[in-house]
Amino acid sequence: MEVVIVPDAAAGGELIASAIGRLLTEKPDALLGVATGSTPVPVYRALAAKVSSGEVDASRARVCQLDEYVGLPPGHPESYRSVVLRQVVEPLGVDPAAFMGPDGAAEDVRAACLAYDEALAAAGGVDLQLLGIGSDGHIGFNEPCSSLSSRTRIKTLTERTRQDNARFFDGDIEQVPHHVITQGIGTILDARHLVLLATGEGKAEAVAQTVEGPLAAVVPASALQLHPHATVVVDEAAAAGLKHADYFRHTYANKPSWQGI
Ligand code: PGA
Repeated sequence: MEVVIVPDAAAGGELIASAIGRLLTEKPDALLGVATGSTPVPVYRALAAKVSSGEVDASRARVCQLDEYVGLPPGHPESYRSVVLRQVVEPLGVDPAAFMGPDGAAEDVRAACLAYDEALAAAGGVDLQLLGIGSDGHIGFNEPCSSLSSRTRIKTLTERTRQDNARFFDGDIEQVPHHVITQGIGTILDARHLVLLATGEGKAEAVAQTVEGPLAAVVPASALQLHPHATVVVDEAAAAGLKHADYFRHTYANKPSWQGI
C-alpha cells in the first residue's frame, strides 16, 4: 500500500479532494464510497470548495454509504444517511436520487444487507472508497475479529466504539445504538481504489498495526494490505508509530507528479 504523510488534516483533505476531482474528470458518474465521523470532514470541505469554484463538477457523481446505525428513526440527524446528505450530497450538488445506503430502519435487516451488496454490484462497484479508521483498527464498522472476507451484514459495536461516537449523541453513550449495518471487509475490498485517512495521535497505534503489522482480523484495516490500490493518508501525529516513515516520505517526495495517489 502507499502511505502518504501530510503535515495536517487540512492537507490530507486537499490531497484526497484533488484525487476525487481527478476521478470525476475522467469518469463524471463515478461511484464514490463515503465515510462518516470527524476524519473525512476536511475532504468534504475541500471538495465543496472545488465544486463552488467550478474546478470540480460532481453533479453526475454517485454516492454510497459505508455503514449505518440500526434502529435510529428515519431522518435522525445522526443517522449516517442524514450525515452524508448534509456533508456530501447537498454541498457537492449530487443528485439525491444517485445516493444509496443500507436501510438501517428495515424490519428485515438481513434482507437489507443482502440488498445493499446487490445494489453496489448492480451499480458497477465502487470506484473510490474513502475510509476512516477506528482507534481499535476498524474500517466501516467491522470491529476487531471481523471476517476479512465478510459481506455487508449486521454487527454489534464494541463499547470503545460506542464511547468514541458518544460525542455525536450529546456525549451520552446510552443514545449510541448497539447495532449497525456495515459493508463487510470483502465488500470494501471490491472497490477499485481505497483511500484511508487517519489524523491525530489517537490513531497512531491503529495506523502502525494496519500498515506495518501482520494481516490479521484483529486489526480489520490491515485487510488493505490485500488490495492492489490502497492509499493511506496520515498526518504527522497519526504517523508517529510508523517505523518506515522515512521511506514513505522519500517515495512520495520522488513520485512522478502525473501518477497522483
Ligand atoms: P472518526 O471515526 O473519524 O470520527 O475518528 C473513524 C471511524 O470510526 O472509522
